[in-house]
Amino acid sequence: MPVISKKGRMMPASPIRKLVPYADAAKKRGIKVFHLNIGQPDIATPKIALDAVRNFDQKVVEYSHSAGILSYRKKLVDYYARFDIHITADDIIIGAGGSEAILFAMNSCMDPGDEIIIPEPFYANYNGFAVNAGIKVIPIPSKIETGFALPPIADFEKAITPRTKAIIICNPNNPTGYLYSREELETLKAIVLKHDLFLFADEVYREFCYDGKKHFSVMHLEGLDENVVLIDSVSKRYSACGIRIGAMISKNKELMATALKFAQARLSPPTLGQVAAEAAIDTPDEYFVNVLKEYVARRNVVVDFINQMPGAFCPNPSGAFYVVARLPIDDSDRFCKWLLEDFSYQNQTVMLAPATGFYATQGRGLDEVRISYVLKVEDLKSSMNCLQEALKVYPGRK
Ligand SMILES: Cc1ncc(COP(=O)(O)O)c(C=O)c1O
Repeated sequence: MPVISKKGRMMPASPIRKLVPYADAAKKRGIKVFHLNIGQPDIATPKIALDAVRNFDQKVVEYSHSAGILSYRKKLVDYYARFDIHITADDIIIGAGGSEAILFAMNSCMDPGDEIIIPEPFYANYNGFAVNAGIKVIPIPSKIETGFALPPIADFEKAITPRTKAIIICNPNNPTGYLYSREELETLKAIVLKHDLFLFADEVYREFCYDGKKHFSVMHLEGLDENVVLIDSVSKRYSACGIRIGAMISKNKELMATALKFAQARLSPPTLGQVAAEAAIDTPDEYFVNVLKEYVARRNVVVDFINQMPGAFCPNPSGAFYVVARLPIDDSDRFCKWLLEDFSYQNQTVMLAPATGFYATQGRGLDEVRISYVLKVEDLKSSMNCLQEALKVYPGRK
């Protein structure tokens, strides 16, 4: 039999989806499973975006320009200007989700064997993208005690080697919800300039900032035009994960010319997705006002509930729709599986993501879980009740 590639064998399965068979089995047993494990929001996609697809009246669904439909990219220029991010249509390449944009960025900036520094815990799929591009992830720890703030500059310095080519941050962060401050980004700027690195900033949760806090983008940093790559997506912004539209943005012309070659090799981003995304830019502000109000209410339910559970701790993050909470448990993988296989309360249980999958360092995240607050408040309250009852009887309780 022909041998599967080393790369294929190294490719990690999604740590978030690996518990799905246990959830399916629980559902077969008649148990209601609250899904707090994935970032699939239950918020409705704006009607304006769906209508654009319904009204699509061309006879052929053609390939678009490899960098994306020009009218869409031009409209994106206006969208970013609202956030004081000033770019041109040529600084944008549309990808099939932020996922493809990350791959374009890694493949355009880094060679096999190069290293990328990532504060952990981090979005687990960065591991898969890194394997795809043949690059090595170098994690540096952020800590729950600080709410997962940016690790100290000394930790970055220690991690830098001659193979270091880039740093990636996610702001606001998945999985921690942490929103980086201007000062933290200025710190990163100094490291990036000192060592001549690329700075990838995954800002797919830009709209989701709470408590009156404003998002500070890497694009606001002065003097970093050649280094900064912005990763974006409409998946979460418009609750439109399935239209598969994201973007890679940089003012570095040589980099964008390189990325375009990768974009050309896959011909085109999805045409209908771009039609929806272009229309979505006109989503009324009111939509976001309501969405943010809803997410703040949800976050408060989760954070307040967890912090009154004995032995548990949950920071109160200012962005995205995730928290990483510490629970009095021996092993988060075992706990999350047990919740589905062996536990129910009033015929209900919760599906959580073990935080181990968000760490590259073996042994970290054992007593932490990621909770996505993507369900309505009522369901979140029931979920938190389940979790509270589960912690009372879990055999591996610490
Ligand atoms: C931090 C982060 N980056 C990128 C993505 C990729 O999203 P998409 O490919 O749907 O744009 C996600 C999706 O959950 C994410 O959470």
